[in-house]
Formats: sequence, structure tokens, C-alpha cells
Amino acid sequence: MTIAPLFELKHVSRRFGECLALSDVCLQLYPGECVALVGSSGAGKSTLLRLLNGTLSPTEGEVWALGCNLNQSPRRLRQVQRQFGTIYQQFHLIDTLRVIHNVNAGHLGRWSLPKALLSLLVPLEVETAAKALAQVGIPDKLYARTDRLSGGEQQRVAIARVLVQNPLAILADEPIASLDPERSREVMALLRSLGEQTGQTLIVSLHDVAMARHYCQRLIGLRQGQIVFDAPTEAVTSEMFDALYRLEPSL
Ligand SMILES: Nc1ncnc2c1ncn2[C@@H]1O[C@H](COP(=O)(O)OP(=O)(O)OP(=O)(O)O)[C@@H](O)[C@H]1O
Ligand SMILES: [Mg+2]
Repeated sequence: MTIAPLFELKHVSRRFGECLALSDVCLQLYPGECVALVGSSGAGKSTLLRLLNGTLSPTEGEVWALGCNLNQSPRRLRQVQRQFGTIYQQFHLIDTLRVIHNVNAGHLGRWSLPKALLSLLVPLEVETAAKALAQVGIPDKLYARTDRLSGGEQQRVAIARVLVQNPLAILADEPIASLDPERSREVMALLRSLGEQTGQTLIVSLHDVAMARHYCQRLIGLRQGQIVFDAPTEAVTSEMFDALYRLEPSL
């Protein structure tokens, strides 16, 4: 029996004006995989994650998720998007709200509008939110104002929001960039364990190569918008990493 890919990119390119952020990328990602996107700044990692969650559309080619071409029907796109949780590089939290409301935003794809509005007045599902905050190590911040938290704590609120959403796949853009080494390991272990316990797929961009190696089973190396390697972690050598990060000689 062949397993259908959760995501498939078919000859995808994405341009921003003159800049070719991704160039003719073909890729299949399968349910339950734990995949790291690695590569230097500007390689196209965030662009790739945003194409996967449908917040960006390709300039050329097709992005398929859950058997659906994401650029064919806006309604279908929204249905598919509910199945994916994204942790963004810039958190995307509402600063002036209390933490519980930002965590509860993970429910919004499922809640009716009246319930969503009511939840702003009377926090709902407090227990679920508290559990998610405990999982990310900040159980005491439930009612704190989000903009009074440190960068690392805000990052964990963004992760708690995705835990509450309980999606099929988690797309995480540098989820440990603002955490100390100990917290980074905790968060990566947590994200990884979700995959093991619930079969959730994890696609994560990481600058920390050692973390990528330690926590992910498959590594995709991006350089200037192209896939340089895509292999099981144990097959990626330090020479391959060196080549990925080597600076281009200046012209
Ligand atoms: N909205 C945008 N407008 C213009 N150019 C963009 C935009 N988003 C990305 N780019 C360009 O596309 C390229 C890839 O950017 P992307 O953010 O995907 O890189 P990245 O690998 O995530 O880098 P980093 O590690 O710094 O987060 C870069 O050259 C960037 O300047
Ligand atoms: Mg990025």
C-alpha cells in the first residue's frame, strides 16, 4: 500500500519582485514525518513554510495538501488550513491581550463567531489553555498580558496556541530562535513527542544544525531557493552541511 503525501510541491517557484525566493522545488512530505528545513538566512525556509500553509501562493507550480490543490478553491483552502498549525518566526500574537486569549486563538477555526466573541469577555476552556501552558513550561502566565512576557515566553505562548489547536501538522518557523539552550531542547523534545504520541507531522525550520540532527529524521537543505539535499538525517554528512552554508566567493 502506498501512503499519500500530506504535502506535495510540484515544480514550485515563488518570486518577490526581482527576488526568486524558491525555484522549481519538488517535494513530498508524509504524515507523521519530523522534517527540518535548514539553510542560511534568505535560503527560502519561511517562504516554503508559508507555501505549505497556503498563506502564500506559488508564482509557478502547484502546492497540494491533504490531496487538494491549495490554489484552486478559497473555501477548500480554509478547510485544509484548519488542519495545520503554524508557529511563526515573529510569533503573530496580539500583544495587548492576556495570554489565555492568545492561546485560545488556537480554537478559532472550530469555534462559532458568538463563542469566539464571548471568549474575549469570559475566557473559555481555561483548563485546556492551562494544560498547554504547563506543557511549554509557563503555567503561571495564563492571565499575564502578552506584551509583558519575554521573547522566549511569547514564543512558548505561540507554541501553546498550536497545542490547543491540535492540528494534523505543525509548521514551525524557527520555534527556538529566542529560547535559551535548555528551553530549546525542551521545546524541540515536546514538538517531537507530539509526533510520536499523536502521529502529528512536524515541519520545522531551524538555524541550529545540531538540534535539527538530534530531533528530526529527515533534513532538507535549502540554498538560494533550491533544495541542495533531502535525506534521512543519518545520511547527511558534515561536508554536506559545510557546502550548504559556505559563502559564495564575491564577484
Ligand atoms: N514579502 C517579501 N517581499 C520581498 N522579498 C521577500 C519577501 N519574503 C521573502 N523575501 C525574500 O525571499 C528570500 C527568501 O526569504 P525567506 O524569508 O524565505 O528566507 P529564510 O530562509 O526564512 O531566511 P531566515 O533564516 O533569515 O529566516 C529572501 O531573499 C527574502 O529577502
Ligand atoms: Mg525565515
